[in-house]
Amino acid sequence: MTDPKVVWHQQSVDRASRQQLLGQRGCVVWFTGLSGSGKSTVANAVDVLLHQRGAATYLLDGDNIRHGLCAGPNLLIERHDAAFAERFGLGFGPLDREENIRRIGAVAQLFVAAGLITLTAFVSPYRRDRALVRQWVEGHGQAGDFIEVFVDAPLEVCEARDPKGLYKLARQGKIANFTGISDPYETPDSPELHLSAAELTPQQLAEQVVAELQRRNILLDKPSRQFDIPG
Ligand code: ADX
Repeated sequence: MTDPKVVWHQQSVDRASRQQLLGQRGCVVWFTGLSGSGKSTVANAVDVLLHQRGAATYLLDGDNIRHGLCAGPNLLIERHDAAFAERFGLGFGPLDREENIRRIGAVAQLFVAAGLITLTAFVSPYRRDRALVRQWVEGHGQAGDFIEVFVDAPLEVCEARDPKGLYKLARQGKIANFTGISDPYETPDSPELHLSAAELTPQQLAEQVVAELQRRNILLDKPSRQFDIPG
């Protein structure tokens, strides 16, 4: 169903032209896994490796996106009223996560249309939400545009790492709906790539991802250039 009052406007510069300009194929590399599994770290390492090769990329990261596009009510109330914050602010209940992932999926699809290699790092615990993003991205593009990467580390390992101290708080009952503790994580059925995130270093995992992108012809051969990354 489409809204008859809102009509799609065809833009002249299409995805193919943008990809030609960039010398690469756009796609979404969707990292999913428990909090503390290493999604952000591995995605960031992939971003560095690709950038150094001269690829045009962007990394959408859960914690960062929840400061803006998917801010929670406490952030929104600083600039809007309570009704607005209540209506549009996102938390971690199942519906809020569904909307979080829907918004990210919509943005990721636009980035693919812009020809970018789009890396996303979200817990995205529900199979259905991830499947809807896949459908959205590939429905507006082509099969192969959505590459699901399962960052697989057992709960015990993530909990022992507890980089932000959130598992401890969740165990104490101070955070509701915490994935793995009081909320489910639905493992991917058939991800394009399954990373053993408790056994290898983030750098080794990142190299596996880049190799997979190469195998899928996402990265076209470009003259080798070195780009300095600050930090
Ligand atoms: S998602 O489930 O909607 O995809 P998202 O990736 O955006 O989650 O955000 C997860 C991040 O928020 C985690 O890395 C963690 O730091 C923080 N967080 C805070 N509360 C929760 C919670 N209840 N469940 C999971 N992560 C949480």
